[in-house]
Order: sequence, then C-alpha cells, then structure tokens
Amino acid sequence: MKVVHTRDALKAGPGKVGVVMTMGALHAGHATLMREARKTCDFLIATIFVNPLQFGPNEDLAKYPRTFDADLAVCEEEGVDLVFAPSPTEMYPDQPVVTVDPGPLGTVLEGAVRPGHFAGVLTVVLKLLNMTRADVAFFGEKDYQQLTLIKQMVASFNVPVEIVGVPTVRESDGLALSSRNRYLSPEERELALALSRALRKGAAQHTADAVLATAGQELAGLDVDYLELRDPALGPAPVTGPARLLVAARLGTTRLIDNTDLELR
Ligand code: PAF
Repeated sequence: MKVVHTRDALKAGPGKVGVVMTMGALHAGHATLMREARKTCDFLIATIFVNPLQFGPNEDLAKYPRTFDADLAVCEEEGVDLVFAPSPTEMYPDQPVVTVDPGPLGTVLEGAVRPGHFAGVLTVVLKLLNMTRADVAFFGEKDYQQLTLIKQMVASFNVPVEIVGVPTVRESDGLALSSRNRYLSPEERELALALSRALRKGAAQHTADAVLATAGQELAGLDVDYLELRDPALGPAPVTGPARLLVAARLGTTRLIDNTDLELR
C-alpha cells in the first residue's frame, strides 16, 4: 500500500478505479465501504482528509478525532492500494473561489441546522473525484442526505463516475457506527439507542402518521433536531411506496444522525 500526500503523486493503477473518501477516524463502517469497493474494483484509493470547508464556525473541526496510524492499518487490512492524505494547503492552495451550490436539498434536514455544510462536502467530493479520476465511489447510507446530494451533483454536472450507496453498519444493539460515538458518555450512549429504536419501530408502521407518531414516542425526552419522513430521493413523503425516515438528535454536546428505509401502504 502506497501513502501519498500530494496531487502529483496520486496515480492509480490500471483497470476499474474505486475510491472511498473519509475524514479518518476509521471504524467498521469505513472498512465495510472498502470491502464493498474491493469486490468490484481493480485499484482502490482511500482518501483521508478532514475537510475544513464542511465544518461550521461552532462545530468540532479542532477536536475532530485524528487517528492517522490506526487509519492506515485499517486501509492496509482492507486491501487499499493507495491512500491519499493531503494537507489543507495541498487541497486548498487558495481559498476555493468557486464552490458547489447544493441547491434546495442543501437547505433542509442537516442543511437547516448546518448552513454551508453541504457546499463544503460537495466541493471536496468533486475535487477528490477529479483528482483520483475514480470510476466508482462508495459512500455510506448513514449520511443519507450527503449520499443523495452527491448523486444529484454527479447527475447535474455529468461527472463520469458511478456512486454506490452502502447500508449503514450498526453495533449489535442497533447504534449506527459513527466517528462521533466515541464522545458519548456511557449514559449518553444508552440514551442514543433511542434513535435506532425509533427508526426500527417507526419503520414497522404502514402510514406516515403512524410512522412519525411511533418513532416520536421513542424519542420523547431527547433533544431532537428533526424527525422527518421523505421519499427515497428526499423529496416530499409519498402516501404509499418506498420512503426514508431520518432523525437527528443531540446527546450532550454530541449530535447524532440516523435513517432507515421503509415501505408505506
Ligand atoms: O462522509 C464523510 O466522511 C465526509 O463528508 C466526506 C464524504 C469524506 C467529505 O469530506
């Protein structure tokens, strides 16, 4: 496995090139993305870059976990061929003059709570797609709005890449894996189980009202940013058919998100 820090050194091998983009602090969710990528790609690139552009002024950029050596071990273990770990100045030699406008989906759900977040995400993802020239890129469904916006960006700008969504990896008790779980106290971690429980119980209902009422009951007492039912592309909720239930809540100073698919009848 090769590790490079500059664009000039970033050269993929022959065949189908896959990329898994990360901000480091790798966990079993990232390993699953790499394993999925490894199944279909000849050459696998992982990127590790804590992107300042997607953090708001009051967010956790400085305290975002940085575990580079352990991250490299995960990449090695999962058969990554090349790790691209640029510095902020390598990625943004000048402040980006042009950034990607996420459009209407960038202002709701996470975008309503984190203004500018998705402009930062889409800008770095487009840059990394262009730098790696990957044929296929893998993203977790855990960040479902991010995945949906990346698909929209690729369609809007005719980016020649396939975007693959990979199901969320969970702890055995249901908690969705996240780099931020490490900030939870034992009490907060226990309370955090309400998110996945709300989604599971909500998804077992069949009408929008019942889904939201059931999920809402499980979240009682938590500091909930949103609980929303939408269609799979995150447009308005359908009356029947496939839908997506999304939740965000704060446990102390830690903000967690989760989502599930479901079927309305
Ligand atoms: O999901 C993430 O870790 C980040 O948002 C991404 C896609 C690597 C862009 O910085």
